[in-house]
Amino acid sequence: MCGIVGYIGKRDSVPIVLDALARLEYRGYDSAGIAVIDAQGNLVGSKSEGRLGRLVERLRDGEPLAGSVGLGHTRWATHGKPSDANAHPLGDCSGRIAVVHNGIIENYATLRAHLLERGHVFTSETDTEVIAHLIESHYNGDLLAAVRATLRELRGAYALGVMSNYDPEHLIFARNGASPLVVGIGEGEMFVASDTPAILKYTKREIILQEGELVVVGRDGWKLSDYDGKELERDVVQIAWDMGAAEKGGFKHFMLKEIFEQPRVIKETLSGRIDDLNQVTLAAELGDVTPERLRAIGKIAITGCGTAYYAGMVGMYLLRSLVHLPVEMEVASEFRYGDPVVDGNALTIAMSQSGETADTIEAVRIAKGAHSTVLGICNALGSHLSRVADATLFTRGGPEIGVAATKTYVSQVTVMTLFALYLAALRQSTPVDRLRAIADGTKLLPAAIDLLLNASDDVRRVAKQIRKAQSVLFLGRYVNFPTALEGALKLKEIAYIHAEGYAAGEMKHGPIALLDPAVPVIGIVTDGRVREKMLSNLMESRAREAPVIIVANYGDEEAAQVADHVFWVPKVDELLSPVVNIIPLQLLAYHIADLEGKDVDQPRNLAKTVTVE
Ligand code: M6R
Repeated sequence: MCGIVGYIGKRDSVPIVLDALARLEYRGYDSAGIAVIDAQGNLVGSKSEGRLGRLVERLRDGEPLAGSVGLGHTRWATHGKPSDANAHPLGDCSGRIAVVHNGIIENYATLRAHLLERGHVFTSETDTEVIAHLIESHYNGDLLAAVRATLRELRGAYALGVMSNYDPEHLIFARNGASPLVVGIGEGEMFVASDTPAILKYTKREIILQEGELVVVGRDGWKLSDYDGKELERDVVQIAWDMGAAEKGGFKHFMLKEIFEQPRVIKETLSGRIDDLNQVTLAAELGDVTPERLRAIGKIAITGCGTAYYAGMVGMYLLRSLVHLPVEMEVASEFRYGDPVVDGNALTIAMSQSGETADTIEAVRIAKGAHSTVLGICNALGSHLSRVADATLFTRGGPEIGVAATKTYVSQVTVMTLFALYLAALRQSTPVDRLRAIADGTKLLPAAIDLLLNASDDVRRVAKQIRKAQSVLFLGRYVNFPTALEGALKLKEIAYIHAEGYAAGEMKHGPIALLDPAVPVIGIVTDGRVREKMLSNLMESRAREAPVIIVANYGDEEAAQVADHVFWVPKVDELLSPVVNIIPLQLLAYHIADLEGKDVDQPRNLAKTVTVE
């Protein structure tokens, strides 16, 4: 949801800001802009509708800029269509203040009306522009004071950056709500960005801004305070990710690279969490969510959005099967308005790769307000979710740049599996031998996925056959119903093909009417309690002449007979099968999108992190 970059130092800021923006483009990519303070002390800039590449061309072909203080932005439109005028940075009437912003200013219409009455002239339709004009209206020789006065008037969730030649030695940033900002610390230079990978090339030392905080950065340091000016301390975090994690590493797209990283990611996710006796050890990570607290809970609610929600849904089946507690699922955008029944006896599990998704954060706020214990399952260290949850289990996926979540899905499902095993052991709800066998089985997952990645070319052949389909149905049951939902989501979001994930037993209650030879059906038929039922559902599809593609265990010739094509997968415990079965579906979506020439890493209309409601 928009990317922000700031630089102040001894080098020319332009190449640094553009390079960092390129790494943030996954957050939004309908327009981009940059402003710098040039050698004469003027505030100058350039903006362009479209991808960052257009801005780069514009700068190269006619509007070169240079200056050692710079502020950049890549946009995902909320207020005002994608256009040059609505691109950030946005300025005030004097042309001396530039503002970039991620989020929504909820009271912008009122503020704008007051500013118009006072003679301010607006050049965009954005909510952001009111910030620049408000700063101008409050400016009385002290830029920081003007920014503080402005922040007190804004309502909404946002991250913003301010640059002005009133104070060319500093940049000012503020954060309110689920809009991340990190400050990277260099030698005589400072970097600010919406996400760590953007500045990883320049520094691995950073501080993370929290809600209601403001930071002033200069060449030789930073000063953190709240909006009222109370100074705050913050530990500097040493980032362990290496630069390679944010590069394509020879793959055509980030998504493909991230799919291929999954065996390593699962190893990382499991590392140190299963002991020699195959018992899951999470107590230290769960901190205040103690074994006593977990023994006392009477129900579990799981929430999240998109792929994170589907990973949570796999968790729901695991928890029901192993822990035998009531488990409810609700997407976060519904949870927040749906009168969720959670209380002091409930555990709410919030799933989020970024830990910044606005709906998920709000759902957590509601759950906490109802005295529920909150467990976050999250990828991003220091994220909003990890700060508001009572405890967080990190998924250890490393940076995921492709907008379509892949490696973070399997790592979320893996963490959910570990948590279900841990909770079942604590509550003695499943025989220990069974729990240990599943825990032992998780160690086979990386090798199983490796095998599937080797079959990527086979998946591409199938992709060639169905790439022109207008509609595709994905069928699954039980733990692999979420696999069907996630497979369909991947195809929709990167290949723009209408796809539906369905609980296979529901087919005959409606969707079967859609079937004909032009609608491929993809079914998950791996071993387990629903295999035979799945076979019957697929026979019904075949009887309607739909092309049938299945995910089945090696050697299952009976299953192969109902299918036009089989994606063979190794056999693992049924409760672990979602981690394996999703791999060919990720690859299928990837190959179709690639064959169709779609923008795999930055699909239209999407953004990696959705920090608006
Ligand atoms: O960062 P989060 O996990 O909270 O994001 C949730 C969804 O926005 C995300 O999973 C989205 O559905 C992805 N584009 C799916 O590939």
